[in-house]
Amino acid sequence: MEHGGAPRGWLEFSANLNPCGIPTAVRDAVARADYGTYADLDAADAERHLAADAGVGAEHVLLTAGATEGLRLAITAFVAPGDRAIALGPTYGEFARLAGIRGASFTELRSAPPAFDTPVDALIGELERGGITAALLCDPNNPTGTVLNASDVRRILAAADVQTHVVVDQSFSAFVNERVGVAELVARPNVVLVRSLTKLLAAPGLRLGYVIAHPSAIASLRAVRDPWSAGAHALAAALAASWRLDRDTRETVARWRERLARSLAEEGFAPVPGEAPFVLARAAGAERIVRTLGARRIAVRWCASFGLPDHIRVAVRPPAEQDVLLRALRDVRAGTRA
Ligand SMILES: Cc1ncc(COP(=O)(O)O)c(C=O)c1O
Repeated sequence: MEHGGAPRGWLEFSANLNPCGIPTAVRDAVARADYGTYADLDAADAERHLAADAGVGAEHVLLTAGATEGLRLAITAFVAPGDRAIALGPTYGEFARLAGIRGASFTELRSAPPAFDTPVDALIGELERGGITAALLCDPNNPTGTVLNASDVRRILAAADVQTHVVVDQSFSAFVNERVGVAELVARPNVVLVRSLTKLLAAPGLRLGYVIAHPSAIASLRAVRDPWSAGAHALAAALAASWRLDRDTRETVARWRERLARSLAEEGFAPVPGEAPFVLARAAGAERIVRTLGARRIAVRWCASFGLPDHIRVAVRPPAEQDVLLRALRDVRAGTRA
């Protein structure tokens, strides 16, 4: 699958879901959800809850059917045919797809292996030259796992005039330390934060996310939203969810990430330094490795669609699952040498 996502029953290292699983309170809320009337689809309470959780007023939040809908709404509302969109690449493929559907041109300013240092200065140069309608950022970035530091975020925002919407896909930001507060970001009318709750809650089937932005931007997004896009089960989950991971979960995921990166390095792969709940690693023969693992029902993400055919992206999973993967990788490599 281009976006990752393994069949049921596989070991799933290709979709980057919270390895600690769905919180019990969310699972229970979903089980109790009412869905017999359209009234069950009123998102106002969930939006108030998520806004309070983020420390902003309810007028700053729009509930969406996953980050996918948030991105779609932002591009629909703020990018017109013939416009220019720009992104820091290699990055999430939906940015290019959505800009293309809208008839906009799309440029990716790409970081390069081995460290994938983000080309922030190049982006700032482009923003200062003007003529860009949307800057699409993914922070932490998929697939590199790299994060923007506070000073880079502030420099990017200072370089973007109000005609340029800065759309930040924060789908994985709950797993890393916050560098610039949400209230500071969305005080600007041209900043749109897109969040996925499906990663954090390890529940992609719920289709749940939200946007945080200035009230004027939220009004523009509401104007192009379909009615009832988030289902009753998603709304129930939203009311029980928090973007703030408890300390134990944060530390566990960070520890498991470190373990995964170290083990991949020990097996001869070259992990890219990053902080997201997945690890990008250079792997000679990546396509063959991914296919051979697939034959064993182990899914890791081949990164050819990101323009990185010699890299794989591996989700952080619990140690026991990592060990199965590492044994399989060892076998694949031994097969290569034989
Ligand atoms: C960066 C990024 N944004 C958005 C999404 C989609 O998230 P959702 O399931 O909430 O629509 C993904 C899923 O892989 C992703 O990696």
